[in-house]
Amino acid sequence: MNISVRRGDAAGQQTPLLVVPIFEGAAPDASLGAEAAAAHARGDVRGKEGETVLLYPASGPERILLVGMGKADSVTAEKVRRLGGTAAKQAAKARAPNATLLLPSTSVAPREAARAAAEGAVLGSYTLTELKARPEDAPEPVALGTLDILLPEGLDEGEAAEGARVGEIAARGENLARTLGNLPGNVATPTYLAGVAERIGGEHGMGVTVLGPAEMETEGMGALLAVARGTDEEPRFIVLEHRGGAEGDRPLVLVGKGLTFDAGGISIKPALGMEEMKFDMCGGAGVLGAMQAIGELGVKANVIGIVPSSENLLGGRAMKPGDIFRAHSGKTIEVVNTDAEGRLILADALSYARRFEPLAVIDAATLTGACVIALGHQATGLMGNDPALVAEVLAAGERTGERCWELPMFDEYREQIRSDYADIKNSGGRPAGAISAGWFLREFVSYPWCHLDVAGTAWGDGKLSYQVKGATGNPTRLFVDWVLARAG
Ligand code: BES
Ligand code: MN
Ligand code: ZN
Repeated sequence: MNISVRRGDAAGQQTPLLVVPIFEGAAPDASLGAEAAAAHARGDVRGKEGETVLLYPASGPERILLVGMGKADSVTAEKVRRLGGTAAKQAAKARAPNATLLLPSTSVAPREAARAAAEGAVLGSYTLTELKARPEDAPEPVALGTLDILLPEGLDEGEAAEGARVGEIAARGENLARTLGNLPGNVATPTYLAGVAERIGGEHGMGVTVLGPAEMETEGMGALLAVARGTDEEPRFIVLEHRGGAEGDRPLVLVGKGLTFDAGGISIKPALGMEEMKFDMCGGAGVLGAMQAIGELGVKANVIGIVPSSENLLGGRAMKPGDIFRAHSGKTIEVVNTDAEGRLILADALSYARRFEPLAVIDAATLTGACVIALGHQATGLMGNDPALVAEVLAAGERTGERCWELPMFDEYREQIRSDYADIKNSGGRPAGAISAGWFLREFVSYPWCHLDVAGTAWGDGKLSYQVKGATGNPTRLFVDWVLARAG
């Protein structure tokens, strides 16, 4: 999609679809014509949030979509993002090759507003068509080729254009993460993810390192290798290095769980809904999506992306409850539950990250069902060892709409993962399951660190206008936003 920002008002736009935000208690601008005035006068559109009315005016644009935004003083970037999503969904329905969106003039700064509108439009245009035949009688879908963002008087054009550029690229990264998440386990294997990383690295001049089982053995990645024992699918340890900063500058590191299918291992999961465990690599997909965007944006900072990747299946050589393995850090881990495998592969990745002497590390993982019980699908569970970093990530979550909520890491929770036979065990049981998992990871970090449990937010039913059923791409945009904020 080509997004451009230009100054103008709604009057006289020649476009297949003009999208106009409407606020509570304010009539549509008279220049929109008699149809819009009538829709308001008859009460079909009152500006309530989420309300939409499609009009076919006698002159001017082919269609006008009026979109309720709520009260004018309550507009947030998230509401503008949803406006962009609504525009994209309507454009797809109308098979419109281009559309024009009137950016509302509100307390949201033009850069943030244009960024949110662009994100919403790119995310709302997302489809996964690769794996499904189109019914013979269904017409070929029309992709939204161009979105014109119209800027009302008084809003800075340069600021808005820069915002739209960032939003478009970040959202395209997020759409990549969605596709990787939605692809089934037999397609999106560890080897496949490594191939995607090689493509990203090649396109943006990044360093790419991919370790296979033999190199993992040499590295001493006993925890990742323990998980990989149960499957014939080879594991991969993927590292992307974006060197956009000065040579000696310490990097920011993003780590994502790339578990391409989680059957639970010998501690097998119930059959019902197990197909959703193809999404267990969404943290890793978020890292790859973010690295693509970081490369495209040419971010002036050193950023490393790390994705440990394996399947978790059952087999004659699979790890068993009670087995003890030596992790990359040197610590021994008693595996009391083979379904707590995400923390095992992350332990080795977090330990590997030490060699980069990171300024800070954020990991993202579909780590625990307990996090979904705690927060549902409305927020990512966040834990960390550094209050300043935690505050930064919470703020990035607010800005991007990829909201996070901090869970406490009281020392007492650490007791739950004490082992009688090894340095640590991989499950602390059911109480506070998201937090004991966070504590497990914390045993492998020695730098400012923040953990995002995206089990409840990485995929969903697609209720928001800029989402569709399946992978959300979360936390790709949060990653990008945090890196941009750090890069200044
Ligand atoms: N990938 C799952 C977590 C998960 C479950 C994410 C459901 C999203 C939806 C993870 O590997 C897992 O199985 N965790 C266990 C941990 C337990 C054995 C300590 C869990 O949450 O039950
Ligand atoms: Mn599991
Ligand atoms: Zn898992």
